[in-house]
Amino acid sequence: MSRENSRPGALVTGSSRGIGAAIARRLATMGYGVCINYVTSEDAASREVEAIERTGGRAIAVRADVGSFSAVEAMVQRTADAFGGLRVVVNNAGLSEHATVEGMTVDAWNRAVAVNLSSAFYAVKAALPYLRNEPWGRIINIASLRAMTGSDHGAHYAAAKAGLIGLTKSLALELAPAVTVNAVSPGYTRTDMTKDSLARYGDAILARIPARRAAEPEEIAALVAFLASDEAAYITGETINANGGIYMR
Ligand SMILES: NC(=O)c1ccc[n+]([C@@H]2O[C@H](COP(=O)([O-])OP(=O)(O)OC[C@H]3O[C@@H](n4cnc5c(N)ncnc54)[C@H](OP(=O)(O)O)[C@@H]3O)[C@@H](O)[C@H]2O)c1
Repeated sequence: MSRENSRPGALVTGSSRGIGAAIARRLATMGYGVCINYVTSEDAASREVEAIERTGGRAIAVRADVGSFSAVEAMVQRTADAFGGLRVVVNNAGLSEHATVEGMTVDAWNRAVAVNLSSAFYAVKAALPYLRNEPWGRIINIASLRAMTGSDHGAHYAAAKAGLIGLTKSLALELAPAVTVNAVSPGYTRTDMTKDSLARYGDAILARIPARRAAEPEEIAALVAFLASDEAAYITGETINANGGIYMR
């Protein structure tokens, strides 16, 4: 992939692994200086930075728990300082734990809401002064199929992701026209998050997906890259599904 002209910063939360890492690599090829964010996987984050730099891109790794406003605020500032501004925020960090409401602790509920929903509010709140300094900006929130279907083993996750779609529409109204705000809603995607369920129930899951396979992280990243591009200026407040058609079942 050819590298485009140098652009300011792009923050991708939760980008040491999986979908976030693929998005970060893709935005780097578009010329953005990318913040690789992690909370535990320091080595994986460093490898992502090295991989981007090897192909001529710019990246920094920043440890920040997206469930903490002060940590997110500091990360946003570091990204803008490192790359001379911030134009793209991708709220991708997510946490999915299996639990029924009966078995779920209040702490588990609060943590799921903090990491999957409040984190996006924190990042946008901290990034707004920088986004407003740019000629245009992009916010892309990574939701989930579960926001639409609900879940019998993760009500906290499904509710937080549904909240993320409400936040997306509200921000789209509030920040138009300079900043567009959209959500991408993946179905089953091949990452650490789905490794165990695909290993255990893969055949049953794939049988329900018209595409007959899980997505690769790069396929989700391609959609995010389009929404982050100059060409996507007229799309805002949307949630775009990338789920191989499973939601039609
Ligand atoms: N995979 C799927 O099938 C699927 C389907 C629908 C939606 N999604 C959504 O897509 C997004 C990415 O999922 P994935 O499958 O790529 O997940 P993953 O493989 O589990 O990776 C999660 C990433 O988020 C980071 N992270 C987790 N908690 C964090 C926190 N508190 N603060 C900062 N970073 C944190 C992790 O950092 P560390 O490496 O440091 O732990 C890692 O980089 C999530 O929002 C997920 O809900 C995924």
